[in-house]
Amino acid sequence: MIGIYLSGTGNSKHCIEKLISLLDENAKSFALTLNDEETIVNEIKNSDTVFLAYPTQFSNAPYMVREFIKRNKDIWKDKKVFCMTTMGLFSGDGTGCAARLLKKYKANIIGGLMLKMPDAVCDSKLLKKSVEENRVIIEVADKRIEDIAKDIKEKNKYPKEGLSFFAHLAGLFGQRLWFYGKTNKYSNKLKINPDKCVGCGACAGSCPMNNLKLVEGHIVTFDKCTMCYKCITNCPKQAITCIGKEVVEQCKYEKYVK
Ligand SMILES: Cc1cc2nc3c(=O)[nH]c(=O)nc-3n(C[C@H](O)[C@H](O)[C@H](O)COP(=O)(O)O)c2cc1C
Repeated sequence: MIGIYLSGTGNSKHCIEKLISLLDENAKSFALTLNDEETIVNEIKNSDTVFLAYPTQFSNAPYMVREFIKRNKDIWKDKKVFCMTTMGLFSGDGTGCAARLLKKYKANIIGGLMLKMPDAVCDSKLLKKSVEENRVIIEVADKRIEDIAKDIKEKNKYPKEGLSFFAHLAGLFGQRLWFYGKTNKYSNKLKINPDKCVGCGACAGSCPMNNLKLVEGHIVTFDKCTMCYKCITNCPKQAITCIGKEVVEQCKYEKYVK
């Protein structure tokens, strides 16, 4: 068993690592990055079961995740795959979006799990919650993960969240239809505030897409953003935004755990 995840603010990383470690203390997990794709593909080829986790984006799986699945379509045949998504509020079929694609490439989808976690979008006042509220959200998610791990271990019972026809309709009509334009390609909406940026390169180092580069002390972007918010979360000067215009307060999983 292995875990593969895309995680901007650490939510999906935490959830998948917690679940797979409860199921198998030797299970390893890998962050999805373009640089490490070959290693990840080999790990998948050598494992019978893959737990795949990612953040819901506009009720869809991030473009990078969908592209990874498609680019490596030959590795999924007969693979047992459990799809997990973390979300701020509503996902509909956040797991189903990757699961349907994986099924097309003959994967055996063993389950789906959608967990509410703190919202990663930190450049919008609308989605802001207090540290205490986010702490409670994580506690609830942790308890669910523990219960689910118990069910899987003791009863071989996997949750099927987000995989049904009705979940598909909820995701489609709830959001995806109206926001599909935001997730049907990589985004070119990443903005670097030149007055705040000090050219430290932390963003470039953290981007799973190699979408940012430090050139002569300045950060340039290549319009291949998968909107994970990792650079935005890790910028020490709060100089980067994507959906909104200004960072209200950076979100990071570690901030909410005691
Ligand atoms: C671009 C973007 C779009 C998002 N869209 C949704 C959404 O449609 N529904 C939802 O509940 N949460 C949404 N979120 C919130 C994230 O899915 C959520 O915070 C997730 O747990 C972040 O996980 P991560 O830290 O592993 O990246 C969105 C976040 C981003 C950055």
